[in-house]
Amino acid sequence: MKVLTIIGSPRKKGNSYQAAKKLEEHLKHKGDYQFEYLFLKNFNLQDCKGCFNCISRGIEYCPIKDDLYIIQKKIEEADGLVLASPVYVMHISALLKTFIDRQAYLCHRPEFNGKKSMVLCTTAGLGIKETLKYMESVLESWGFEVTAKCGIVTAPWPPKTGVTNKNKAKLQKSADKFDKRMKKRNKKASIRFKNYMSFRIFQNVSENVKEYMPADYQFYKDKKYYYPAHINVITRITTEIILRLVFFLMRDLGPAEKK
Ligand SMILES: Cc1cc2nc3c(=O)[nH]c(=O)nc-3n(C[C@H](O)[C@H](O)[C@H](O)COP(=O)(O)O)c2cc1C
Repeated sequence: MKVLTIIGSPRKKGNSYQAAKKLEEHLKHKGDYQFEYLFLKNFNLQDCKGCFNCISRGIEYCPIKDDLYIIQKKIEEADGLVLASPVYVMHISALLKTFIDRQAYLCHRPEFNGKKSMVLCTTAGLGIKETLKYMESVLESWGFEVTAKCGIVTAPWPPKTGVTNKNKAKLQKSADKFDKRMKKRNKKASIRFKNYMSFRIFQNVSENVKEYMPADYQFYKDKKYYYPAHINVITRITTEIILRLVFFLMRDLGPAEKK
């Protein structure tokens, strides 16, 4: 099983890499894993220019031609993804944020449906919860199943035994969760209500704003879900009822009538 680990730290062999290596050790005891490390800092990744083309028209209209596509290809080729970042002022690193912003269209049109992943962050002490939650929500919006969230404390001084043991236990637990789902990677998880809801919201919005968001419209039209899946009848009915309420509450957000 091929696991790609993306390191969002500007420090090559820093704490995030060290934590990811420990995760690798745990996983290698559990199965036949091959790890590849991709350091964002080594790639030519330019800042998003804010043209909105990737979202409205498609990634092929992005004016920047750099290494983004090399990284995306590596993600596609891997069976699983570990996304790692240091906590920088209570959030992910700027490097990782650049990478995420350059793929803003993926939150509208996910491409990694059902792929297994986990998120990992290291911190001197604060910001774990916020950082992991953000990383999780991004990967979920790209279509990944996030199997584990792991926050490691790596203060800039020698750790007490309690912290070392806690870190070890967290890595072990996350490795166990990731491994369990990786071994079932060909079996898609059942469709969660919130994912179906999100699908239907995007689908409805894309229909209403098709002349402004043609890429979304093309992507969502005629789809029952992001991929062939069984959606149970209760989920469908509840979603349609809530959708009506959501659209009522959001009624002022659509485009103005043409004069
Ligand atoms: C610019 C910067 C901002 C940081 N912000 C925080 C923070 O908000 N909270 C925290 O607990 N640690 C913070 N840290 C500490 C790092 O999160 C911690 O050292 C991390 O393990 C570094 O990982 P790395 O070696 O992979 O880069 C910060 C470090 C730097 C360099």
